[in-house]
Amino acid sequence: MDNRKLLGLTPAMGWNSWNTFTWDINEQLIRDVADVFVSEGYKEAGYEYIVIDDCWSLKERDQDGNLVADPAKFPSGMKALADYIHSKGLKFGMYSCVGTHTCAGYPGSFEHEFQDARLLAEWGVDYLKYDYCFKPRNLSGELMYKRMSLALKNCGRDILFSACNWGEDNVYQWIRASGAHMYRSTGDIQDNWDSVKKLAISQLDKECYTGAFCHNDMDMLIVGMHGGSNDGFIGSHSGGCTDTEYKTHFSLWSIMGSPLMIGCDIRNASQATKNTLLNPDLIAINQDTEGRGAYRIKPEPQWFHTDEVFMLVKVLADGDLAIGFFNLSDEQRQLSLQFWDIGLPYAEKISLSLYDCWEHKELGVFRERFAPTVPARDCVIVRAKLV
Ligand code: GLA
Repeated sequence: MDNRKLLGLTPAMGWNSWNTFTWDINEQLIRDVADVFVSEGYKEAGYEYIVIDDCWSLKERDQDGNLVADPAKFPSGMKALADYIHSKGLKFGMYSCVGTHTCAGYPGSFEHEFQDARLLAEWGVDYLKYDYCFKPRNLSGELMYKRMSLALKNCGRDILFSACNWGEDNVYQWIRASGAHMYRSTGDIQDNWDSVKKLAISQLDKECYTGAFCHNDMDMLIVGMHGGSNDGFIGSHSGGCTDTEYKTHFSLWSIMGSPLMIGCDIRNASQATKNTLLNPDLIAINQDTEGRGAYRIKPEPQWFHTDEVFMLVKVLADGDLAIGFFNLSDEQRQLSLQFWDIGLPYAEKISLSLYDCWEHKELGVFRERFAPTVPARDCVIVRAKLV
């Protein structure tokens, strides 16, 4: 089969410079991240794209209208950086914007879409994040994404197209047809628990739209940041989240089928951070080739009215189910799943053999229901096999 046809089959996995470093980026940092991808097992776990976000170019295009990499930050140029990343068996991502300028005020790709796509292809870029700032008011976002998608698909190189319009203009309705492989559905994440909770809950009813080749991107991960951003908005100097909160965040993004783009400084990641980001059972759920969104089950009893406690079920390619028991509230809760509600008739005596994806152990065989007690802001994720 033509490999190009598989571009974007499963959610992208990688690292993006924005959450921790924002404007403070340079080629040594990017090379170091590539090295760590290999030496610390990220590559082996499936992480692939290393993406430079905003603030990489000069403020003006050159006399031919080409974007110019800032020579102070990237003295060897983007082609050399791409070559280095490719030499490690990894892929290289960059950033531009629908509008005249990027969100941080660098040149955007408006009316330069095909020229920029050609330049990115020459440099060896494999992924483009395409932001939504300074969009011309009289033109639709849908048209802007169709344009760049067409430019990328005809630039002579396979480039994954990561749209980033923050969920505006009913993006769910038109983005898949535009040709993008993933689409940001939320405003910018912040390194605190409220942000994680808000973004996840906002997408629960949008899971029906995500799927293979066009994935709902709930924003880059904050796992392991622990307040490490150089930007006040993202970090809010709060010290970030606890490791349990990061675990729940990673679980939500994994089972909901979001791309997994790491946002912390992986050069200094703790063991707890690595255990979360490199969890093979969660990654397998995220990367399942059927690429289905998860459906939600509200907890019993029915009078338990809160949107902070719920179960998510993701149908997997081999007939298993990934089931997440999420307790985003501040008190311990028992969540009860009746197997009837996920399609098991009582009459047929089918049980579920459950495997705990965080404890990495078999829990045994269960009939009719499973009801774990879940601490505050925590979750239990199981992989269920019908027996
Ligand atoms: C927007 C995006 C962020 C990041 C910044 C860069 O806010 O949503 O993810 O790319 O722009 O300026």
